[in-house]
Amino acid sequence: MTDQPQKEGLSLRAVPSDDSTAPLSQPESLGAFPQVRMRRNRRAGWVRRMVAENTLSTDDLIWPIFVHDEDGRLPVNAMPGVDRLGLDCLVDAVGGGSALGLSTIAVFPYTDDRLKTSDCREAVNPENLVCRAVRKIKQAFPEIGVICDVALDPYNADGHDGLVRDGEILNDPSVEVLCEQALIQAQAGCDVVAPSDMMDGRIGAIRETLDGAGFTQVNIIAYAAKYASCFYGPFREAVGSGTSLSGDKKTYQMDPANSDEALREVALDLQEGADIVMIKPGMPYLDIIRRVKEQFAVPTAAYQVSGEYAMLKAAAGNGWLDNDKAVMEALMAFKRAGADAILSYSAPEAAALLKRG
Ligand code: PBG
Repeated sequence: MTDQPQKEGLSLRAVPSDDSTAPLSQPESLGAFPQVRMRRNRRAGWVRRMVAENTLSTDDLIWPIFVHDEDGRLPVNAMPGVDRLGLDCLVDAVGGGSALGLSTIAVFPYTDDRLKTSDCREAVNPENLVCRAVRKIKQAFPEIGVICDVALDPYNADGHDGLVRDGEILNDPSVEVLCEQALIQAQAGCDVVAPSDMMDGRIGAIRETLDGAGFTQVNIIAYAAKYASCFYGPFREAVGSGTSLSGDKKTYQMDPANSDEALREVALDLQEGADIVMIKPGMPYLDIIRRVKEQFAVPTAAYQVSGEYAMLKAAAGNGWLDNDKAVMEALMAFKRAGADAILSYSAPEAAALLKRG
């Protein structure tokens, strides 16, 4: 390295400037800093807890639930431990989560194939399953935060998040329907709308629609950096959109190769009025969570998606991982990366574990 004489007098660096990568102490030279023993702060529970940089609480957790339009529960194959819930089971299930300390849920509908059309009209039906579920939950638990997904895929004959014409996913016409969808969800009483469709300009348009109708208090969580990911596979079984999906979502969801682009997506959604930004999937994209948090310092959510849940459950089910430890370690990783909120299908089991201490 070359000398930089003009900076010499100012340098406060402890590490010699000719090798900034030199470790502070060599492994064999503990003698150089005999006073430093990192293990002192790890030697007992009380000190480990005292110096812990991050904590996980039920307040951080958002519990996604699936509803269907029949009575009773139906297990989701690829998501062991997760059921689709009939409206008759809803109050019981949400009450159970609430008793564990969960205070926010996200509602996703399983839509019957017969209700799927290419104009997605069921998405804007004020009596659709999601709206009925929201009313039911808010009536029983006014203090619970309810989040609705805004996207057309549950209602679309093509399984896409936007309207399709001649194989193309149309942007601006989709945004118009999404605005209407967000509006009927707000009218049904949801607290937050969460556009997951990745159409351009939808956050601003939805904000304007909600404000225009007097819903200035409804929050927007923007799925700002949502990647075209195979980890959504089990979810598509749960909501019944997998079989109808023609092609893939690569023309609107992000390329997993990209990271700078996520910052641009987040910047735009914030400019358009997003209150909270989300990164999705979670664990394979912890670097994006960290970059977003550092760059924008705004409330940030992570979505531990269905495929991540399925991976952990499959390994635990085979006895290859300790389920409870894996669940808690994965959730803490989101906090460490910078997430404030975490959507996780493990929310109830994590809440139970947190309660047990
Ligand atoms: C729909 C939507 C998806 C998820 C949340 N909202 C699937 C998709 O984009 O295909 C995925 C959630 C999960 O996998 O847990 N727009």
